[in-house]
Amino acid sequence: MRFDRETPLILRPWRRGDVAAVRQAFATPDMAQQAAEPIVDDASANRWLDWACGLVSRDSGFAFAITAADDVPVGNIAVTGIDRHDCGWVSYWLASRARGCGVVADSLAALVPWVHDVAGVHRLELGHRVNNPASGGVAARAGFFSEGVEREKLCYGGERFDVESHARLATDPRVTPRRDVCVVAPGDGNFASA
Ligand SMILES: CC(C)(COP(=O)(O)OP(=O)(O)OC[C@H]1O[C@@H](n2cnc3c(N)ncnc32)[C@H](O)[C@@H]1OP(=O)(O)O)[C@@H](O)C(=O)NCCC(=O)NCCS
Repeated sequence: MRFDRETPLILRPWRRGDVAAVRQAFATPDMAQQAAEPIVDDASANRWLDWACGLVSRDSGFAFAITAADDVPVGNIAVTGIDRHDCGWVSYWLASRARGCGVVADSLAALVPWVHDVAGVHRLELGHRVNNPASGGVAARAGFFSEGVEREKLCYGGERFDVESHARLATDPRVTPRRDVCVVAPGDGNFASA
């Protein structure tokens, strides 16, 4: 299925049957840092799904598959590390075939109200390498504010990378997604459609 700036989106919990979609998403080299191990076969994709399918509560954190009407996941948004201060860490990725048309920004903008108001996370944080401006674009479009650069925070393949930090608070302005996004939260019916 082709994605464009108007394709309606659905965010839903991951399922064990999403193995093929996970393998396809991780097939490009720029996804190598998005999992704890290389996703190269059904076994590693299933281990990734063990992790994602277990993220269904405040204690564990949350992970949402991004799909279109065909229900095939093309992306992930996770909120993990939710602590006693009601702070949580956001991460995301998108399969190459759906990139370049605002899919993650609209998904994150739609998910933010649920995370703040239902999951009770007051402060959402994320970080991206400064050489990944599309990730910074996602954060800005979803209503996150830049909080500066952490120098040489990450090391991949012996090379160190500066990381730009972003955060948003429950009290910060909400951003309306530019398309219809339906959020199906764990254990809930549909949360919102914007
Ligand atoms: C980073 C990633 C999630 C972006 O997803 P995406 O939905 O394709 O993002 P887009 O290309 O639509 O860009 C999002 C926004 O950033 C802007 N943007 C993209 N490239 C940009 C650049 N080089 N400079 C400035 N802004 C840029 C876009 O214009 C867009 O805003 P708009 O919708 O208002 O036009 C995706 O490329 C990905 O998964 N990459 C591999 C894994 C990864 O890097 N994950 C993030 C780790 S922090």
